[in-house]
Amino acid sequence: MFPSVLAVVWFIMPAWVANSAAIDVSGLPVLKNYSAPVDFGLKWRGKRIFGDGKTWRGLIAGVLAATACGMVQQQYPIHGYHLMTPALASMMGLGALVGDMVESFIKRQSGLARGHPLFLMDHLDYIFGAMFFAWTMVPVSFEYLIMSCFITLPVHFIANIVAWIVKLKKKPW
Ligand code: CTP
Ligand code: MG
Repeated sequence: MFPSVLAVVWFIMPAWVANSAAIDVSGLPVLKNYSAPVDFGLKWRGKRIFGDGKTWRGLIAGVLAATACGMVQQQYPIHGYHLMTPALASMMGLGALVGDMVESFIKRQSGLARGHPLFLMDHLDYIFGAMFFAWTMVPVSFEYLIMSCFITLPVHFIANIVAWIVKLKKKPW
C-alpha cells in the first residue's frame, strides 16, 4: 500500500534540506572564499571529475543541515511516520550529495559543461542517492522511492526557479 504524501515528505526531508543547503551556502558572502571543488580540479580521461559546481563547502553544509533536520525530526516524532534520527538523516544528506556528484561525474565525462540540464536527472539524482544511503540503515520500500520522486519533481521545480530568481542558482534547473 502506498504511504501518505506527508509521510513521504517527512522521510525525504533531510535530502531536500541537504540539497538546498548546498546551494544556499554558495550565496553567503562570508563563505565566498571557501569554494574548493571536491575534485580539487583534477581530471579523469581528460575531463573534470565533478567540476566547479561540487564544492566541499556544499558537501559539508549539506550533511550538517541534514543532521540538524534529523535532530529536529527526532525531537518531534509523528505517530505512524518513519522514525527519523540524526544518524539516518546525516546518512541521507551524504547520500543526496553523493547522488548529485554521481550525476555531475556522468555529465562531465559526457562532455557536458557545468550547469548543463539533464531532464529528470537534475531533479532526482539526490533522491536516488539519499534513498540508497538510507537503505543501508533502514528498510526503504519501493513505494517510498517512487512517491519521493513524484513529490520531489514539482517541489524541486518551484524551488529551483525561486533560487534562480534570487540569484543563488545560475540556471533555473
Ligand atoms: N553546490 C555546491 N557543492 C555541492 C553541490 C552543490 O557548492 N556539493 C552548489 C554550487 O554552487 C552549484 C549549485 O549548488 O552550482 C547547484 O547545484 P547543481 O545544480 O547540482 O550544480 P550545477 O552548477 O548545475 O553543476 P552540474 O552541471 O555539475 O550539475
Ligand atoms: Mg545536480
